[in-house]
Amino acid sequence: MDREQFQKQYGIIGASAEIKEIVDIVQQVAPTDITVLITGESGVGKEVIAKAIHATSKRSHKQMISVNAGAIPEGIIESELFGHEKGAFTGAGETRKGYFELADGGTIFLDEIGELPLATQVKFLRVLENGEYMRVGSATPRKCDVRVIAATNKDLEHEVRQGHFRSDLFFRLRSINIRIPLLRERREDVPLFVQDFARQISEKNKIPFGGVTPEAMELLKNYHWPGNVRELRNMVESMLVIERGKVIDASDVRKYVREMGDGNRNLPVYTHKSAEQVERELIYRALLEMKNDIMEIKHLLSHDNGHSIPVNQRFVEAHIDTENHETGDRFLPLDEMERRMIVGALDRFNGNRRLAAKALKISERTLYRKIKEFGLEE
Ligand SMILES: Nc1ncnc2c1ncn2[C@@H]1O[C@H](COP(=O)(O)OP(=O)(O)O)[C@@H](O)[C@H]1O
Ligand SMILES: [Mg+2]
Repeated sequence: MDREQFQKQYGIIGASAEIKEIVDIVQQVAPTDITVLITGESGVGKEVIAKAIHATSKRSHKQMISVNAGAIPEGIIESELFGHEKGAFTGAGETRKGYFELADGGTIFLDEIGELPLATQVKFLRVLENGEYMRVGSATPRKCDVRVIAATNKDLEHEVRQGHFRSDLFFRLRSINIRIPLLRERREDVPLFVQDFARQISEKNKIPFGGVTPEAMELLKNYHWPGNVRELRNMVESMLVIERGKVIDASDVRKYVREMGDGNRNLPVYTHKSAEQVERELIYRALLEMKNDIMEIKHLLSHDNGHSIPVNQRFVEAHIDTENHETGDRFLPLDEMERRMIVGALDRFNGNRRLAAKALKISERTLYRKIKEFGLEE
């Protein structure tokens, strides 16, 4: 199949030299069982490429299971991946199959591989090398036939130097590394994405698409797209839904770029932090600290001898959504504050969890957990 046909069949948009090269590699490696490492920032299209590899492999009749290592709490990651025996740990009431067992004959897409705990990395390397693994709570090795496609937005070499990633696993993974560049490094693809996404969204939702003026397209091409293709898709979707068939011009684009959280920047946009952003980060951090202090007080009060006073409860509830008219201060339940901060950070970084976690000064894993907890997933 030639490259264009292939891209069409698997929905891979792009005509830049970068995309062409990636598609060539995909076509070469797909039919083999070789482990592939896909690297690139959030939203560049890592999963799109993984799906194309699986779909053109000899395993395509079986499923590809996508697992996000960053979203699984460290404590249960091994039982998720490799399964567990009944009674292996408290709560392990039944024997459970892990993803490697479930994916037998197929493919596992292991996203955010940089988040695998070191102890799990050893076991993962073993599966890669000879297909062997053990269920948690068992000493009997089991065999599986699984092709692994791993992905990360981290610089694994840096992680190795920091002692967070095993070098043997890194060397094993990097032999076939597909690097997907940032969208702003292949700006010529922007108009293709805009046209294609607009057509898809318009067909699927039966919304008319009025087109984009050349000036508007130029702005889109020059925008820095911190959230990459995902951000572009979301933006096209908003524009279509709201403008309903109107021709999208430069002022519309400016408006949407602002709504995507870049209002404090002019187009084209630069990547240094604005004063507003720095200030917001300081506020986030102060609020988080405040929350921790209050949790501690709550904890102390609830363990207070005999006087089992729900004072702490009342203290918090009494202030819900009330406004102090003198100072204009607003009080919110702390978990609501936290939720809003997280939404704010995700918005600000266009869904880029790594950057959002960094701004909130929490680990990506904690952020994932909270996103789950608050039901903020896409
Ligand atoms: N080359 C591409 N062609 C078509 N759609 C793409 C392409 N790259 C990314 N996308 C779309 O952008 C969004 C994010 O892609 P995804 O593969 O989930 O990114 P990542 O895994 O790198 O975060 C998805 O909606 C995906 O369909
Ligand atoms: Mg992804």
